[in-house]
Amino acid sequence: MTAPLRLERPRPGVARVVLDRPELRNAFDDVLIARLTETFEALASDASVRAIVLAGEGKAFCAGADLSWMKRMVSCRLEENRRDAATLAEMFRRIDTCPKPVVGRIQGAALGGGAGLVAVCDVAVAAEDALLGTTEVRLGIVPGVISPFVVRKIGESHARRRFLTGERFSAGEALRAGLVHAVVPVAELDAEVDRVVDALLLGGPEAHAVSKELARRMGRLPLDEALEEATGIIATRRASAEGQEGMRAFLERRSPSWTARSAS
Ligand code: COA
Repeated sequence: MTAPLRLERPRPGVARVVLDRPELRNAFDDVLIARLTETFEALASDASVRAIVLAGEGKAFCAGADLSWMKRMVSCRLEENRRDAATLAEMFRRIDTCPKPVVGRIQGAALGGGAGLVAVCDVAVAAEDALLGTTEVRLGIVPGVISPFVVRKIGESHARRRFLTGERFSAGEALRAGLVHAVVPVAELDAEVDRVVDALLLGGPEAHAVSKELARRMGRLPLDEALEEATGIIATRRASAEGQEGMRAFLERRSPSWTARSAS
């Protein structure tokens, strides 16, 4: 039995979080949930990390919640069952709100909670063999804690179809729904993920954190409130040391310090 999670540092500025339970298609139980949550918590405050790749070892990205573990819940009191679901929700929330860009490397199955993990990635790159789906209804359960993240990502129309049919769908269909952002041949998956990471490393770390927050929140605020907030944010960012440095570097035709810090 391997450890359920590996944390790698493949190059300066980049952390690679690998779900490592390939014999169970990286299904997550309480141990893996705790490891993922604490790992993202640590990475969020690690200034040396500029981008995070979330990957799964073996044939599948992630087969969702470990059904043997979930089935055991039948013997728990409702309160305990609820606490458990809250722990799972916290794992997704940590990844979703992580101030660093998160890139999903998706191969094989990404089902149930596995599709939920895809939804909380900022950029999801899928191999042509990827098969996604919110299959919970076929097990008599529901895509509960992943629903806010999936609905925000693909919208109500796609979510109603996917949540109800429980069908598995191809990477191409996931691309059309906006669940993933690129589909490439299996052999090109790592190169495409690297290309996305290269692009991310050109961005300012504070600019990333604030831009992610903007993307997560702005579509949900009334326009007047959104503009009020956005004007305050851009005013602050323009005057910030990072903003000043980035604009000066552009005008002086040189690279800002954050690109040098993460250059390999
Ligand atoms: N929870 C617990 N165990 C799981 C699992 C899950 N979500 N998904 C797969 N496994 C286990 C299988 O039971 C099997 O265990 P075994 O070797 O002890 O028999 C092992 O992982 C390999 O699975 P298998 O189905 O043989 O592999 P596959 O490559 O042919 O298919 C999947 C992979 C992911 C497509 C398939 O296992 C599957 O459909 N899993 C269920 C996914 C799902 O519905 N998730 C939603 C959870 S809410």
